[in-house]
Amino acid sequence: MEIEEIKPESLNPDDFIRQKVDDVSSAVGSGLAVNALSGGVDSSAVTLLGHRALGERLKTYFIENGLMREGEPERVASLFKGMGIPVEIVDSKKEFFGALKGLTDPEEKREVITQTFYRAVLARLVRESGAKFLLHGTIYTDVEETVAGIKRQHNILEQLGIDTEKEFGYKVLEPLVQLRKPGVRMVAKALGLPEEVYKRMPFPGPALATRVIGEVTPEKIELVRKATTIVEHELADTEAFLYFAVLHENKVPGMRSGKRDYGWQIEVRCWDSKDATTGSPTRLPWETLDKLAERITSEVPGVVNVTYNITNKPPSTMEVV
Ligand code: XMP
Repeated sequence: MEIEEIKPESLNPDDFIRQKVDDVSSAVGSGLAVNALSGGVDSSAVTLLGHRALGERLKTYFIENGLMREGEPERVASLFKGMGIPVEIVDSKKEFFGALKGLTDPEEKREVITQTFYRAVLARLVRESGAKFLLHGTIYTDVEETVAGIKRQHNILEQLGIDTEKEFGYKVLEPLVQLRKPGVRMVAKALGLPEEVYKRMPFPGPALATRVIGEVTPEKIELVRKATTIVEHELADTEAFLYFAVLHENKVPGMRSGKRDYGWQIEVRCWDSKDATTGSPTRLPWETLDKLAERITSEVPGVVNVTYNITNKPPSTMEVV
């Protein structure tokens, strides 16, 4: 890869921020830029960096794709409003679910989310706002895995030879691309983001769609969203790198009140990892697993079975799609 990685031990966050603020200012000049904020550490850091460089000439959107976790759009918009950064929530649920209809192949699902995000929704916002630049939270690991052909990360464009100016009508600026997650967290902290943001666990760009095996529908997203809330709550104290719920494609036989109950299967994954390149399942106490199974089968409608992933990455990947 041509990008020069900056490792945490040689990163000075304040110098890095000064440099990137200068880079963004000179690239955008007196023009306008937009960015999409998801509330994760990468896009939050880019939002603050961008606002430091451009002030009101950066317009920040939260794309409500219908695939986010419970209460996210409102929570994120209000957090940034509190920091003096207005965030516009763009309701694009119909576009995303329409595009995903009927698709089951993981790479096709990822591709269609990318296209809807960049070609349909963001390109329209850029056109309407008169901006020429998209500020983007791509990090080193995203590029690495995509270029290596492991998994197409949703936010990789130019590194795959996509000319974004020609294809989508805007240039992409990626101020964090030399950093991995630990470096981004250092920068996010130095930018003054609260701990709940700079320590936040990763969440993938294609959001809960990466946690539904098979076709993604609003109903299935609702199930995995409910299970995710439970998993995040029950595992909050583990300090694991990443934990979440997955909805399996097929229903399985179960029983309730002595009768057959054909229902959904949820898989729980919880990862120990330093930077997502490799990972191993957290050795959770049996009582915790027991509680997860109990809560998920009683609180998520139609779920009759809960499993826990015990495979390392590799050969597994962290997300299921
Ligand atoms: P995998 O599943 O590739 O996950 O082992 C490694 C890390 O990357 C996150 N991930 C993504 N992040 N866009 C992102 O921004 C994506 O398309 C994507 N896919 C996976 C995943 O959550 C984990 O932290």
